[in-house]
Amino acid sequence: MPVSNFDTSGLFAVEDIVIAVSPLAVPSARVTAAAVRAGGLGVLDLTSGGRRAAAELALAEEWSAAGFGVRLSDNDAFPARDLPARVHTVLLTSDASCTPGDFPGHRVLVEVTGHEQALRALSAGAHGLIARGHEAGGPVGELGTFVLVQQLLADRELDLPVWACGGAGPHTAAAVVAGGGAGVVLDTQLALLTEAEAGLPAGTSVLLTGLDGSETTVENGRRVVRRRGAPDGAPAPEIGQDGFLAARFHERWGTVHAAVRGVRDAVLDALKSAGPALGPDSAGSRALGTELPVVQGPMTRVSDQAAFAAEVSGHGALPFIALALSGAEQTRTVLERTRDALGHAPWGVGVLGFADEEIKAAQLEVVREIRPSHAIIAGGRPAQAAALEAVGISTFLHVPSPGLLKQFLEAGARKFVFEGAECGGHVGPRGSFPLWEAQLCVLDDFLAGAKNGTAAELQLLFAGGVHDERSAAMVTALAAPLSARGAAVGVLMGTAYLFTEEAVSAGAVLPLFQRQVIAAERTDLLETAPGHATRCVRSPFTDEFAAVKEELAARDVPGREAWERLEQLNVGRLRLASKGLERAGGELHEVGEERQLAEGMFMAGEVAVLRSAITTVADLHASVTTGAAGFLAARLDALGIEEPAIAASPEPLDIAVVGMACMFPGAPTSPPSGRTCSPVRTPSRRCPRPAGTPTSTTT
Ligand SMILES: Cc1cc2nc3c(=O)[nH]c(=O)nc-3n(C[C@H](O)[C@H](O)[C@H](O)COP(=O)(O)O)c2cc1C
Repeated sequence: MPVSNFDTSGLFAVEDIVIAVSPLAVPSARVTAAAVRAGGLGVLDLTSGGRRAAAELALAEEWSAAGFGVRLSDNDAFPARDLPARVHTVLLTSDASCTPGDFPGHRVLVEVTGHEQALRALSAGAHGLIARGHEAGGPVGELGTFVLVQQLLADRELDLPVWACGGAGPHTAAAVVAGGGAGVVLDTQLALLTEAEAGLPAGTSVLLTGLDGSETTVENGRRVVRRRGAPDGAPAPEIGQDGFLAARFHERWGTVHAAVRGVRDAVLDALKSAGPALGPDSAGSRALGTELPVVQGPMTRVSDQAAFAAEVSGHGALPFIALALSGAEQTRTVLERTRDALGHAPWGVGVLGFADEEIKAAQLEVVREIRPSHAIIAGGRPAQAAALEAVGISTFLHVPSPGLLKQFLEAGARKFVFEGAECGGHVGPRGSFPLWEAQLCVLDDFLAGAKNGTAAELQLLFAGGVHDERSAAMVTALAAPLSARGAAVGVLMGTAYLFTEEAVSAGAVLPLFQRQVIAAERTDLLETAPGHATRCVRSPFTDEFAAVKEELAARDVPGREAWERLEQLNVGRLRLASKGLERAGGELHEVGEERQLAEGMFMAGEVAVLRSAITTVADLHASVTTGAAGFLAARLDALGIEEPAIAASPEPLDIAVVGMACMFPGAPTSPPSGRTCSPVRTPSRRCPRPAGTPTSTTT
């Protein structure tokens, strides 16, 4: 059985780029057959079992001449011997009671939510892995799709093709294939398409139509959407953060057939156009005024040292000082030091848009006076950005939702940070993949109705899980269509900098903090209230936090009081971890490593799980720029796709089309004239002959 695996065999199975599973576990032979006809891998979901599943299996066998797959969680109802001849692939759920060995002669792909499961699947004889990220519907693990896919692909022991499930759309699918993955799994994305919709449970279409990706929760290890007003204990549909894509796919493609082709073509187009967009002298670096389109994101209690900013800047990137909740005096001190250390090089400040008005006003007064070249406002609004832009400070806004992005674009904002929930520090509601897919869809729509050249006004920073060649190559691919139109694209990193020698030598963090992130095998989310969560590596403090939270819940402490209690618990913990300092009686005192470890909060993102060695700022920057370009080039080579001859992100041209005039038979206006001139039409006919004139022909 040929099993595609780009990295080992170099085979490129185009039909495997899109695995289309009948959505919401409703078996649908129509969906399967349509996906197969479109040249994808159609998979009939048989996990529900029963007569309907058996009937659909018989129909899929009849309608899918090229062969298809089935999804199973056990082999009771459909043992291998009863699978029809055209079933060549079996997908096993992550909690399946059967193993690949139960399906001899079939290609078996196993769904996994983490690395341990992947290793078990490998030893059980799996031919491939479906990486179900934290944002997928149904069973989920800890890591977001973007990071889980990276983790599985980076492990040389796991020499298996990997598909991504969770947040997959046309843009992120390109990222997966660019990063070394085999393709993506579409499921809920297909639910509103013609072939699927009729078979869905009542109310599902209405539910899906209203989603924006922020409505899901994880209950007992499974991601679901709980309908408003649904009775307690009623089963909740297993829909992921990518549920919003169902409406998007319906609007864009209408049918499963068109969607499968559309996603596959988008992947191939993006790969063909993906150039070295993150390299020196790219649109991103020109826009930032730096050598590289790389940004060191603001990090509270970490990026507050001029010396560290100077290291980042000295190696070509744009450093940000985090102002956090500093008062005017402290703000002035750090900004003046940074200005003095960096001279004319660009640098920025990170402002918390949601900070107390008084604190923010005091900080902004100093910022306007000292005028760093850039600012990032987390939780900020376009008016706040405009106020800084007005004094010459190039200002980015964090935009955590597609709804906000639409509003911000309409308000004239053009510089954005898209930071997925894999990041360190405060996290938004969406993982990187669903967030990036949603935001790129919004930008596609916006540009479709905007005047020419608007794409070149955009400056986009992708953040949350970026740290090396592969991850940056993935960003390059997903942003390739926008880069090709002139948008300035860059990567913004936080956690990866915690691994640099300079983070310690320049005083950003103490050695113990760095040792903690290097040793990290998992991260914890400290959620004080819905929407208020910070990501940290596991430590004695995160255990304490979990215990206190559990105790508050057990005592039925009201929400507001519990939130205040947990916020209070967090106060001062980050400084204790990063700088080994605590405030007592209005003064800062040093604490020893023992207390630092026992009580500190080691804020970091999921990248901490992927990295295990110290690096340097120079090497980090090289890996996400020239390294990413090299990775992508090698990948395109392995796939047999030629690199674009011209580097992406051309400068916008000042050319205006001022008129078009021509007349062809059968073409009443200019737009259809292209169609009229296509080789399959013969635009030639007899001229109506006024009485008394000779006959002639026009072409
Ligand atoms: C220790 C730490 C503190 C952070 N503090 C801030 C902050 O004060 N303001 C902000 O906008 N982002 C903050 N962030 C987020 C980073 O600026 C950046 O967006 C994020 O780290 C990118 O994701 P990554 O961690 O996967 O690289 C912080 C991140 C870390 C790791």
